[in-house]
Amino acid sequence: MIKKYSLLAALFLCALQPLRADEGMWLPALISQRIGDMQAKGFQLTAEDLYSVNQASLKDAVVLFGSGCTGELVSDQGLLFTNHHCGYSFIQRHSSVEHDYLKDGFWALTQADELPNPGLTVRFLERMEDVTALVLKGYKSKMTEEQRQALIKKNADKLKEQATAEGNGLKASVEALYYGNQYFLFVFREYRDVRLVGAPPSSIGKFGGETDNWMWPRHTGDFSIFRIYAGPDNLPADYSPDNVPYTPKKSLKISRAGVKDGDFTFVYGCPGSTQEYIHSEAVRYIQDVSDPEKIALRTTRLNLMKKYMDQSQAVRIQYSSKYASVANAWKKWQGEEKGLRKNKVVPVKQDYEARFEEWAQGTRFDGITGRLAQLYAARNPLFRAYEYYRETVLTIERLQMALNPRFNKKDYYQPIDEEIFAAMISAFDKALDDSYKPAAFLEQRARFASVEEWRDAVFADDALAKELAEALDKYYDEQLAPQVKQLNQAITLTYRDYMQGQMEFEKDKTFYPDANLTLRVAYGHVEGYRPADAIWYQPVSTLRGIMEKDNPEIFDYNIPQTLRDIYAEGGHENQPVCFLATNHTTGGNSGSPVLNAQGNLIGINFDRVWEGTMSDLVFDPEICRNISLDVRYILFIIKEIGHADYLFNEMTFVE
Ligand code: ARG
Ligand code: ASP
Repeated sequence: MIKKYSLLAALFLCALQPLRADEGMWLPALISQRIGDMQAKGFQLTAEDLYSVNQASLKDAVVLFGSGCTGELVSDQGLLFTNHHCGYSFIQRHSSVEHDYLKDGFWALTQADELPNPGLTVRFLERMEDVTALVLKGYKSKMTEEQRQALIKKNADKLKEQATAEGNGLKASVEALYYGNQYFLFVFREYRDVRLVGAPPSSIGKFGGETDNWMWPRHTGDFSIFRIYAGPDNLPADYSPDNVPYTPKKSLKISRAGVKDGDFTFVYGCPGSTQEYIHSEAVRYIQDVSDPEKIALRTTRLNLMKKYMDQSQAVRIQYSSKYASVANAWKKWQGEEKGLRKNKVVPVKQDYEARFEEWAQGTRFDGITGRLAQLYAARNPLFRAYEYYRETVLTIERLQMALNPRFNKKDYYQPIDEEIFAAMISAFDKALDDSYKPAAFLEQRARFASVEEWRDAVFADDALAKELAEALDKYYDEQLAPQVKQLNQAITLTYRDYMQGQMEFEKDKTFYPDANLTLRVAYGHVEGYRPADAIWYQPVSTLRGIMEKDNPEIFDYNIPQTLRDIYAEGGHENQPVCFLATNHTTGGNSGSPVLNAQGNLIGINFDRVWEGTMSDLVFDPEICRNISLDVRYILFIIKEIGHADYLFNEMTFVE
């Protein structure tokens, strides 16, 4: 349909087109849509090299690692690289006072020394295919939405059953793309004997800690090494000492040629979640309400934890993992809020919506952006209460403990929790109307003269704690969450049309589906960026920078003495450590292989730059950068710190 654009809009679109070049997370099975663009930008392989169901392709060297990271195969004996922060909890579980692998690192000298990790799985994608027609088979336009959903579920269940009939570790899922405009079947093979092979000391693998997290210049050696084991038939098997290293269909060659400014790169991995096509009201809520409120609440919690962590080394160890997980999103949201404002995302989206509506007049999309605005107006107060529950009362460990007799008290320090209780109960009470609070909460509140008295009573009296915890939990589970879910479903349904409308409105644009933890390809090139006026960040960091940050007094920057000694020998000043590129990535892409034009491994993705974290909502090619660990630094650490260069024997190197 040809429609009239305003001149301004036309200029706007033209101005945007070339800039947007590196935006996108593409489905490997549909990569032929992008292959021309990729090749024009330097890619030297074909679509079949990236994804094929008939022959081994690069997809066969990539796995979903655990429940939310990516990993890649680097040898024909099942050797796998991922991030240190992705392997962290497994490394932690093997650590004890006698051998602290988190602190000192771990290197299996032989395969017999590799450590099993019950519960850890990796998933290979066998195939993905568009099953939209099959999923909607039997659909009639007079069906209600409930009937439609039931039909989709029934058809999808059947497809999944057929796809996994063989057993042998096959798993399948049917995922809605573009808010349900398209359905894809994903068939995986899941391996469940995955062993720890190596990890650097945290002073390397977590170098820079929370201080450097989301930041550039970065010098974190964020990697760990695992090996996949299989039964004698190379198929998935439960852990057994008789299992053998898995022989992958494909493993990555490691390039030692290095990266330089402008080089083509691509990331192959499992991005978790993005919302690139949402309404301005959704963005406004995130920018003006959700992000600032959650940031403030987390600032309070982090300060309370930090106060006690600074006083005691033991508490610091107990709370470091909790602190890191609270701090990670906290810091990301700050970058996101700033980025949204700086890019004027709300007014830009409003302008887009106005142009969309002008175009949509008389079509079935007419008025849809207004309907979305209304849906958000209805949802937002409830959603705010929902988020408040999650960020305040549901974070109080005393209350979790009252509900869960198996609560892990090993990493619990009550003085922190007492302060968090008082602060979070007060914040919750102040922010939300009483109609969002269960009766038991209001009763207990009335019983005590102050929040301090209330706190002391709750910490002294199990029954009181349990009553409060149960009431809050019940309200959250039975009232708030279902209501929010229902409103969100209505919103998703409207997006199904709005998405289609956007695709018709911008006919010449190739859309990519929002991330949903399915395998994607993002491509771009090595490039620095300008975080602020008069600053240009170079895209490559080196060991010299680690020495500049090194400080035995600062926990995050206290490197192992061995590394100081090696550096002092000379010759390692320019050892590359991390690099920046323009690949569009998000949470879940951690551990993803970063590959060069020939499809060889040059790095491992692990983060993004702070100024660009709004890329989950809008990608600004000027400033959105992914941060990768240079594979040559991994090799350097394996050899110089781990003395584990015997692992090189099973890797394939290319220049
Ligand atoms: N920011 C990275 C990501 O979102 C790394 C997180 C882990 N590291 C940390 N210091 N908390 O996952
Ligand atoms: N650090 C993230 C992860 O763990 C990656 C990102 O958000 O860029 O997946």
